[in-house]
Amino acid sequence: MTEPALLQDVSPGFAADIRAGLTHSPQKELPSKYLYDEVGSALFEVITALPEYGVTRSEERLLTRHATDIVAQLSRDVTVAELGSGSGRKTRRILEALCKKRPTSYCPIEISRTALQLCRRELGDIERISIVGYERDYLAGLAEVSEKRPDGEQLLVLFLGSTIGNFARLAATRFLRDIRMMLKPGDALLLGTDLDKPVPTLIAAYDDPIGVTAAFNLNLLARVNRELGGDFPLDAFAHVARFNPEARSIEMHLRAKRRVSAHVRAAKLTVTLEEGETIWTESSHKYRAEEVDAIADDAGFACLRQWVERDWGFAESLLVAR
Ligand code: TRP
Repeated sequence: MTEPALLQDVSPGFAADIRAGLTHSPQKELPSKYLYDEVGSALFEVITALPEYGVTRSEERLLTRHATDIVAQLSRDVTVAELGSGSGRKTRRILEALCKKRPTSYCPIEISRTALQLCRRELGDIERISIVGYERDYLAGLAEVSEKRPDGEQLLVLFLGSTIGNFARLAATRFLRDIRMMLKPGDALLLGTDLDKPVPTLIAAYDDPIGVTAAFNLNLLARVNRELGGDFPLDAFAHVARFNPEARSIEMHLRAKRRVSAHVRAAKLTVTLEEGETIWTESSHKYRAEEVDAIADDAGFACLRQWVERDWGFAESLLVAR
């Protein structure tokens, strides 16, 4: 096994992003990409093991069942880029199927160094794989991987876990268009989307009874305290997951149980929340399998194949750049 390289480029924008989000009116917000520090990444791993959170297991079942079929749709020479590798566990099936055919380069793109480390530990043992991690924002990383790939290779972009659902609907199409701009005709995008399901199932998935999801969400404020010299009293906040029927999304908030004033030193910011006021941290939009065709088309892709898991409700779509 070759020791995988790491290209890093840490964004200095944490304090600026926190300041912009907490002064946003009328809805205060915190960008969800900061959920995944070492503590957050570990908590998210626990979330994926919770019986109430079926998303990850459903996608794993799909990829285990269909990896050979998915890989059979691609050309012989493939370079793989993954947006938001997470721990890399789901990706193993696809990479094993590819590496069986020939040695394959795998480039996980992640702003979380912890996730990159987990991913390399998880996948480094696959025979004939070479892993190069990119500590970058998705699009910057993808541009680099796309440009550096050897002549004649098809790029396979993996965007799994229904992370696309964390974009608002229009922004999701725009993001797919941005991805498309980095690709050549014939390149492929494997896109995971969590499907519509009954509201109580969704609420339980995002507000589990033992409070792991609550801890995951609260860690965002704890991280602001740790890294930016904040003094948010964490016991004054409650995790809230609510369904938004118009958007067909689950919204995650942190609600102030009483009036709270806090100071964030590195952001030169004092912020006050009224009792009941919330900070919006994340939304997770749900899809119908047929909707993926339409947004793919809008973004310059053709949907070549789709694999659907009905036990939980998850779809994997293979899109090809036109
Ligand atoms: N991408 C995951 C999802 O939308 C992230 C997630 C799961 C999440 N549970 C959460 C984000 C709770 C914030 C709060 O399914």
